[in-house]
Amino acid sequence: MLCLRFLSNKSHHRDIINMTTNIGVLASGRGSNLQAILDAVEAGEIPDAEIAVVVSDKENAFSLQRARKKKIDAVHINPVDYESRQEYDQAVVDLLKGKKVELVCMAGYMRIISPIFVKAFPNRVMNIHPALLPSFPGLNAQKQALEYAVKVTGCTVHFADEQVDHGPIIIQTAVPVLEDDDVDSLSRRILKQEHRIYPEAIKLFCEGRLEVDGRRVNVIK
Ligand code: GAR
Repeated sequence: MLCLRFLSNKSHHRDIINMTTNIGVLASGRGSNLQAILDAVEAGEIPDAEIAVVVSDKENAFSLQRARKKKIDAVHINPVDYESRQEYDQAVVDLLKGKKVELVCMAGYMRIISPIFVKAFPNRVMNIHPALLPSFPGLNAQKQALEYAVKVTGCTVHFADEQVDHGPIIIQTAVPVLEDDDVDSLSRRILKQEHRIYPEAIKLFCEGRLEVDGRRVNVIK
């Protein structure tokens, strides 16, 4: 069983090193989940956490502006400057390591990460997905749910592993699908839940309360 965040020697760790968890956020788009995380940290809802850097593959991502507004390092790393996904991911990993990031949060990051990432941050990369995994992985999860005509969908925060939208699940929340839902209305209701459960999962991590045992994530009381 793998214990995250120095559980067994947490007090020792806290005695000798700054106890803040440095978080790196990866975001490609508007960044509303990033904003929820920033707000939760600012409100003291995630104690002992700091957003060290926000990285985007898109130069004009609104998420970069959100970070700059809070005086947080916001870095665009352009995929066209790299020959392969691996090289690109290595550059992002190097940047995150340079900022002493301990937890990486993908928040609307629309790139598939390579094994390099998972090896560099084992059980330390979180992702949020707008469906109840393992249902509807990949793109347009809300549209997939409507087309399948499920009665309930939701959102999932999980640790990333080497497969897309696949790793151990930390928190899930169900959202009912209404008869007159379209992609926009359903996405809005799911997003509201995303903004609640992502900071909650990060808080549990920062408190050293997540323990990964195979596919299972135990939350330590
Ligand atoms: C969110 O709904 C997130 O769950 C989804 O993209 C949106 C980003 O919104 N992510 C995925 O679909 C990843 N498979 P945001 O930029 O406002 O946080």
